[in-house]
Amino acid sequence: MAVGLTTRMTAADPDALKDAARCLRNGGLVAFPTETVYGLGADAGNAAAIARLYQAKGRPAFNPLIAHVADLAAARNIAVFDAEALNLAESFWPGPLTLVLPKAPNCPVADLATAGLDTVAVRIPAHPVAVALLRAFGGAVVAPSANLSGHVSPTTAAHVQSDLAGRIDLIVDGGAVSVGVESTIVGCFEQPMLLRPGGLPREAIEQVLGRALLQPPQDPDGAMAQPLAPGMLASHYAPRTPVRLMADEVRPGEALLAFGPAVLPGMDKAIAVMNLSGLADLAEAATNLFGYLRALDARGAAGIAVMPVPDHGLGEAINDRLRRAAV
Ligand code: TXA
Ligand code: MG
Repeated sequence: MAVGLTTRMTAADPDALKDAARCLRNGGLVAFPTETVYGLGADAGNAAAIARLYQAKGRPAFNPLIAHVADLAAARNIAVFDAEALNLAESFWPGPLTLVLPKAPNCPVADLATAGLDTVAVRIPAHPVAVALLRAFGGAVVAPSANLSGHVSPTTAAHVQSDLAGRIDLIVDGGAVSVGVESTIVGCFEQPMLLRPGGLPREAIEQVLGRALLQPPQDPDGAMAQPLAPGMLASHYAPRTPVRLMADEVRPGEALLAFGPAVLPGMDKAIAVMNLSGLADLAEAATNLFGYLRALDARGAAGIAVMPVPDHGLGEAINDRLRRAAV
């Protein structure tokens, strides 16, 4: 295991980014901020580094990674874009959208990172630190979220440190992220399919495409029947404390994850109360989601009661992550 390393933490100044790029070139593991969540980066062409990355996260190697690049030319070197994929890329990159596409001939991403699939996930992140790091490195960087596998994704450098200290080489601290949930994943095959709701609302994508996104086949319990995005297994993003959804009261011993201005019966006796957005703003709620789940998980409550969140816009991704947290 990649345990017992000294994990350095650095601010995101130009010297530190040069150092981080050098670390990636030497096969190191570097956590860095993106606009969605913090990623754990490795050189996309270095199979040994990618093997260390899977170990550091405790992630099953059948779960492929997203290749992050600085511009569309680099993305087209990795994957084949049809007209709809190109339209989405030009409309939403840089930004919280990942496209799953056929691999380009001579795709530079190591097979280990794509789990042997003939498709590859690509995105151009919008965070200035991520883009500066990608440019300094000069190639593609594969990066899953920088948490232990199955844990809540990190939205601050401190979250990364609490999961991965001793297991990775470097954490570039760029402050708290702005979006707060992972990128939306769209598979561009015959008809574009929503593989994971995320930081770019479905409605925005469908408006650009002029048609609805296909929905992957679902099991009755809401888990994907055959996980087309293999990381979308039901029990993911799980806090240790049991999570109870659609709460209209707070039961004895529970903490409350609130949304909006409503007051619930039993709220005054809650172990702790955190409100995703007192004004019921979904973007604010997405930004706060993972940090508040981590904070409430640390309070030793018997359970975390969660108030309903509307299912449109960013609410689709928020509800998706909450359902997984409740499994
Ligand atoms: O916002 C994000 O997407 C963050 C930041 C760091 O970019 N990254 C992230 O990575 O969330 P990760 O590894 O936690 O989630 C990537 C998802 C997984 O569910 C994986 O199964 C799916 O992308 N995926 C990757 N390659 C795929 C492929 N070829 N086909 C289908 N799904 C794929
Ligand atoms: Mg993840």
